[in-house]
Formats: sequence, structure tokens, C-alpha cells
Amino acid sequence: MEQVKSRITTTHAEGADCQVLILACPSIAAATQPGQFVHVRVSESADPLLRRPISVMLADRQAGHIRLLVRKVGRGTEALARLPAGATVDLLGPLGNGFPFPSAETSGDILLVAGGVGVAPLVFLADTLQTHRARFRVCGLLGGASDEHLPVWTELAGRCEEFHVSTEDGSAGEQGLVTELLGEHLAQDGTAVVYTCGPRPMMAAVAQMCAEARVPCWASLEQWMGCGVGACLGCVVPAAGGDDFLRVCKDGPVFAAEQLAWEALGQ
Ligand SMILES: Cc1cc2nc3c(=O)[nH]c(=O)nc-3n(C[C@H](O)[C@H](O)[C@H](O)COP(=O)(O)OP(=O)(O)OC[C@H]3O[C@@H](n4cnc5c(N)ncnc54)[C@H](O)[C@@H]3O)c2cc1C
Ligand code: FES
Repeated sequence: MEQVKSRITTTHAEGADCQVLILACPSIAAATQPGQFVHVRVSESADPLLRRPISVMLADRQAGHIRLLVRKVGRGTEALARLPAGATVDLLGPLGNGFPFPSAETSGDILLVAGGVGVAPLVFLADTLQTHRARFRVCGLLGGASDEHLPVWTELAGRCEEFHVSTEDGSAGEQGLVTELLGEHLAQDGTAVVYTCGPRPMMAAVAQMCAEARVPCWASLEQWMGCGVGACLGCVVPAAGGDDFLRVCKDGPVFAAEQLAWEALGQ
């Protein structure tokens, strides 16, 4: 993990409420694995004080760049999305554990199930899986409220052998929830493993469907964070089966679905 000052080389709006930023930070680009995140100080001033965690969507090791997808939901993400090219931000990273890779024996379909901005870490995973294609196929499933809420969908589609979209209003792809697409794939019986990132209710449903189908499932959680490095316990979530807690920043953000007490996680 490093703390670096990083220059924004490019920034552009994406869909209804997102921004894509490219940042120059060779050391973080070289070290980051899919599923890891950077903790971003969004302002030079003390307001907002806390850093904001953002997944690395892609790392270009040769160019020394990382790419972030930021959905504007509040003060921190609005401030980050407003920064112009040339501005400098303070980054801490890479943080978190990242997605475990499928073993060399894995055969069948690898499903990437994304909701909205949860697509970001799965783009990086799909990109990295492209170099390991011998035994499995990568299939991407992306859901959103409407066609305006499917950020960077081409980035995921272009890295998958099969790709499907669902929208709640039917403005793109199948009308309905992404979990309906998942149900169709699980019924075909060729799924080796599922990786998911998106809203918690979506991931809770994905986890349950995978448990019923006896398919391993890895979920990347979002949570409010303080330190981002495991020290403050500001990000804990309840573990399955008892009184234990897990730190999303250090033990995660990626968890095996059965590690978590989904019913106690809330929205
Ligand atoms: C490991 C990790 C990776 C993430 N990756 C991305 C990413 O790639 N792109 C992206 O846009 N966002 C990502 N997030 C979420 C992002 O960190 C939050 O949206 C951001 O911190 C909100 O800050 P804010 O100041 O804009 O909003 P605030 O003003 O703090 O909050 C605005 C609203 O969002 C809600 N909220 C804030 N933080 C969270 C949260 N963590 N979970 C659920 N609801 C929240 C608040 O309750 C409030 O309703 C990630 C979070 C984690 C933990
Ligand atoms: S944010 Fe401090 S322990 Fe996770």
C-alpha cells in the first residue's frame, strides 16, 4: 500500500450520474489486483474529512494509469466528479483483498453479475481473466434501472464471451432484474463460479441463488469507511453464524457469500 499524489489525466461524464476518471499513479497501477480499491481524499481542505473508497476499474501497468468509475451520490463523490483534468488527488492504495482467481482446474462458465456502478471491479476482473481463457468462458450479466444506468457496459461486454443486460423499465436488454438472467444461466447447469458486485439486495439474492444451485459465489461489498486499513472498525459487517464481525476494508471487500450474514446486512 502506498500514499501518492496522483494527477487526473482525463475525466468524462458517463450515463445519468457517473464520471470516469483516469489517474496517473504508476506504483498503484503496477500493484493493484481486480477487486481492490483506492481510498481517495476528494478535497485539499478538511471538508469532507474522510477519504472515499472507490474500486479500481482498470489498471494500465504500462501507461501507469488507473481508471475509476464514480457514481455521484453525495458530497464526496460529487466533489471527485467535479475535479478537472490536471487536478491532483491524494490516493491510498491498493487496499483490500481482491477477487480470488479461479483455479487452473476450473472449467465451465464464469459468471460476472453486476448492478449499476458495481460493474467497475468486474470490468477489471474480466480484463484479467482474458489471459486465462483456456478452460472456461466468461459471461457478463449487467442490470440497471434503465439504459441510463448501465455505466461503461461496453467495457464489460467487450471482455466477455457472452454478455446480457437487463433493465427494470425495459429500455435496454431484457425487462426485469439481473437476477432473472442469473436464474436462466444457473438452470443450464454449466456455471463454475459467480462473482458479483452491486446493490446489497441484489447481491443477497445472488448469494441465495448460488447457495441453492451449489455454485461458489464471491461478492464485493460496499460499506461506509473510515481509515480503510483495518484500524478503526468503522466498516464492520456481521459474519455468518455467530457473533463475529468482518472488516470490509481489510478482510474484504470481497467475501465468499457464505461468510456473510446477509439477512443482517440491511440495504
Ligand atoms: C470497497 C468499495 C468500493 C467502492 N467502489 C465504488 C466505485 O467504484 N464507484 C463508486 O461510485 N462508488 C464506489 N463505492 C461507494 C463509494 O465509496 C460511496 O458511494 C461514497 O463513499 C459515498 O460518498 P459521498 O460523500 O459521495 O456520499 P455521502 O454524502 O457520504 O452519502 C450519500 C448517500 O450514499 C449513502 N452511502 C454513502 N456511502 C455508502 C456506502 N459505502 N454504501 C452504501 N451507501 C452509502 C449514504 O447513506 C447517503 O444516502 C465503493 C465503496 C467501497 C466500500
Ligand atoms: S475502515 Fe477502518 S477498519 Fe475498515
